[in-house]
Amino acid sequence: MVKFTVKKNIFECSNCCCFSPTLIVIPALDPVHLSPASIAYLLKYTLPYSIRVLFESSVRNCDGFLVKETDAMNILDWKTKQNNVEVPFCPARVVLQDFTGIPAMVDFAAMREAVRNAGGDPVKVNPACPTDLTVDHSLYVLRIESIFGKNATLFFFLILEKLQWSSKVFKNISIIPPETGMAHQVNLEYLSRVVFEVKDFLYPDSVVGTDSHMTMVNGLGILGWGVGGIETEAVMLGMPVTLTLPEVVGCELTGAASPLATSIDIVLSITKHLRQADVAGKFVEFFGSGVSQLSVADRTTIANMCPEYGAILSFFPVDNVTLKHLKYTGFDKAKLEVMEAYLKAVKLFRNDESSSREPEYSQVVQISLSSIIPYVSGPKRSQDRVAVNNMKSDFQACLNEKSGVKGFQIAVEKQNDIVPVQYEGNEYKLSHGCIVIAAVISCTNNCNPSVMLAAGLLAKKAVEAGLVVKPYIRTSLSPGSGMVTHYLSSSGVLPYLSKLGFEVVGYGCSTCVGNTAPLPEAIRNAIKQGDIIACGVLSGTKNFEGRLCDCVRANYLASPPLVVAYAIAGTVRIDFETEPLGNIYLRDIWPTRKELHTMEEECVISSMFKELQEKMEKGNKRWNLLEAPESTLFPWDLKSTYIRCPSFFDKLVKPVSPQLIENAHVLLYLGDSVTTDHISPAGSIARSSAAAKYLTNKGLTPREFNSYGARRGNDAVMTRGTFANIKLLNKFIGKPAPKTIHFPSGQTLDVFEAAELYQKEGIPVIILAGKKYGLGSSRDWAAKGPFLLGVKAVLAESYEKVHKSQLIGIGIAPLQFLPGENPSTLGLTGREQFSVLFPPELSPGMTLDVKTSTGKVFSVIALFENDMEITLYKYGGSLNFVARRFL
Ligand SMILES: *[C@@H]1O[C@H](CO)[C@@H](O)[C@H](O)[C@H]1NC(C)=O
Ligand SMILES: *[C@@H]1O[C@H](CO)[C@@H](O)[C@H](O)[C@H]1NC(C)=O
Ligand SMILES: *[C@@H]1O[C@H](CO)[C@@H](O)[C@H](O)[C@H]1NC(C)=O
Repeated sequence: MVKFTVKKNIFECSNCCCFSPTLIVIPALDPVHLSPASIAYLLKYTLPYSIRVLFESSVRNCDGFLVKETDAMNILDWKTKQNNVEVPFCPARVVLQDFTGIPAMVDFAAMREAVRNAGGDPVKVNPACPTDLTVDHSLYVLRIESIFGKNATLFFFLILEKLQWSSKVFKNISIIPPETGMAHQVNLEYLSRVVFEVKDFLYPDSVVGTDSHMTMVNGLGILGWGVGGIETEAVMLGMPVTLTLPEVVGCELTGAASPLATSIDIVLSITKHLRQADVAGKFVEFFGSGVSQLSVADRTTIANMCPEYGAILSFFPVDNVTLKHLKYTGFDKAKLEVMEAYLKAVKLFRNDESSSREPEYSQVVQISLSSIIPYVSGPKRSQDRVAVNNMKSDFQACLNEKSGVKGFQIAVEKQNDIVPVQYEGNEYKLSHGCIVIAAVISCTNNCNPSVMLAAGLLAKKAVEAGLVVKPYIRTSLSPGSGMVTHYLSSSGVLPYLSKLGFEVVGYGCSTCVGNTAPLPEAIRNAIKQGDIIACGVLSGTKNFEGRLCDCVRANYLASPPLVVAYAIAGTVRIDFETEPLGNIYLRDIWPTRKELHTMEEECVISSMFKELQEKMEKGNKRWNLLEAPESTLFPWDLKSTYIRCPSFFDKLVKPVSPQLIENAHVLLYLGDSVTTDHISPAGSIARSSAAAKYLTNKGLTPREFNSYGARRGNDAVMTRGTFANIKLLNKFIGKPAPKTIHFPSGQTLDVFEAAELYQKEGIPVIILAGKKYGLGSSRDWAAKGPFLLGVKAVLAESYEKVHKSQLIGIGIAPLQFLPGENPSTLGLTGREQFSVLFPPELSPGMTLDVKTSTGKVFSVIALFENDMEITLYKYGGSLNFVARRFL
């Protein structure tokens, strides 16, 4: 057992040690210490759990500069400050995916170089927090080959070699090799710490990253969401991400779902409710007694669907369901005990005991799980849903109705017709609603393992109760993947499925597309002669009339266990509530949610985890064969056209104040809504472009150019590609073209060539732009590119916010015209030269004067929001700032 003692927190922070809730484990003694002030916090506040995680991070990382005491206070005051303040967040780790990792690795490698050149120790240059790079090879080979052609795999492994160097040389970088064959979920579970233990500290896990399934981890109680590459890199550099202190919508789950409802029913129903609630741009957090009924798989599925309902994330605080799950993903007992004790002590553990106080939320959405009932869909279209309770009467209605989307128009006197049929020496009676096809299929819509296990466990209980499936029913089992067969087999249910006739017929959606073995001749004939409405039930996604077999006119989609249940019943004209199967009711053999969760954890989670772990240990054949050098500095390959040491650090300078911008020429005079894709296109490299000239000089043919996106590791290509979008509308040129005028010579040139001439002449350049400069997805090269072109400032009417921060992050001043002013109201032509008059000391939001060579003087606002941004700017951007710190 872990004991607690109250002690002054040893985590001393110069500015705000007063209320740190950070708990410290001292390994020798092993008790968990809790500061007195943090107890006050625990008793006093009813912050949502997700906000507690933000708060803990702000206290732990408070340095009075990047994270301030006021930030922590603002988070603590969430109730009144939500939506009104920006707060910094330092996640515990980052996850990079595939190519997004390359620029970051290249920058760190370059930083080592710069620090060495400046006389520092390059070994000190490492990411500030653990960084996992996942490389999903299979995906990439496909994608790369479609874009780049045959040499792609080779190219890919060239890149990998560089990555491998990174993982060997840097601390805090680990690379999950390709072909480890992981699903996203396992991937995240493998990487997830839930609670971090670094030296003597324990703190909650949290993560940002470029993986598109990032929000899944919130199902495990890990706060995390997806951000762009440059934000991820900033976190690796030790900077926080900033976010508006979010509103938190509490989603209260009450009651118990109908036992016949599967995980899929529950997940879909919850996401449907959230779609109708107003959760866009907010955090969602689950609470209430119903939460314990959701397995971790259900939770991560709900959390993964955030983009569908627009929430930033859907947080499930750790509870005993989570802990039980973690037991099966390789966490040892001692570690789990510490984790539990820690989370309970800092009130990050959710439990349903009446003594625990629920947080106060911005808004509460209540979902009663008991309102979730199972449905099937059919008989002709998948959008026609029928509650299982109403199946019998609904089918009756279909018989009565006119032929149409649902009706079969069977005369009343014929509705109870019975057609006797001889099959394998026995006589059976077919009637309307009889089932002749039953197919259990694992399709994308029911990939949650618990539903296939439910079918298996139901089969087991049915066989044990002596139930059978009539032999003329074409039963089949299509597990979807070897993994499904594996867990059906390891959980011991496969023989029971097969005993009921559900034999594995193959993978993929064989039955969906009508590949079942034909129905027995005798049955077909009987159906035709008696004009019987025979039924198929399947757990696939398609059920068009006649699709399974032309003589089967009613087809229903149902969950895998319901397919088994209807097969046993032999008809859809049954009310499971009141009519037994043989001498037992369906509810008596239906697996409970608890049984399923246990089975899922023991048979699926633990074996998936073991398999993954083995693969991680074995590595990958080609990966293991790569021999990355273990030098401290990156062995730049001068011939490589993919990876090159960028020149961000060429002038690793002491901070200057003020930055001088004197007699700058205007490189580009742009209009409104210039996007990051105008600034740094990701697409193909035009044959006449500056980048093409560079690559041609390197001996490449146009077929080998690839795209700008693929060459993000080469600053020479990316700088030449800056403003190389053919749709760029530069007012100096008058028509869309990636060109500009070099004023001293009067020549019209590619933007890069003009910028290069200006740099040679020692003339700084600026950009004039209209409204919303930098719209579009955040792209690191949209800031890095202009920086390398020698752009010192942008003068625009307004900015896209993220892009504005990125400009400061690279060392470019974002200046804004006063309201109502723009180049034309000020009478500027863009052909004059500009000097920006910086005062000795900068302050946030200050006004600066700009003087032109034609004698005009006007004011602009310097969009520095805080001291941190000013400092970064003075240092020439965050890369230089961090490099300086390492010196
Ligand atoms: C690795 O990350 C941890 C934070 O988890 C940090 O404390 C440590 O300084 C980093 N290591 C290096 C060598 O920078
Ligand atoms: C690309 O593949 C061809 C053979 O298909 C080979 O001759 C060539 O050297 C390869 N290019 C590179 C850059 O390795
Ligand atoms: C979780 O804890 C509660 C109360 O301590 C208990 O009633 C419930 O059964 C537990 N659930 C699991 C899955 O262990």
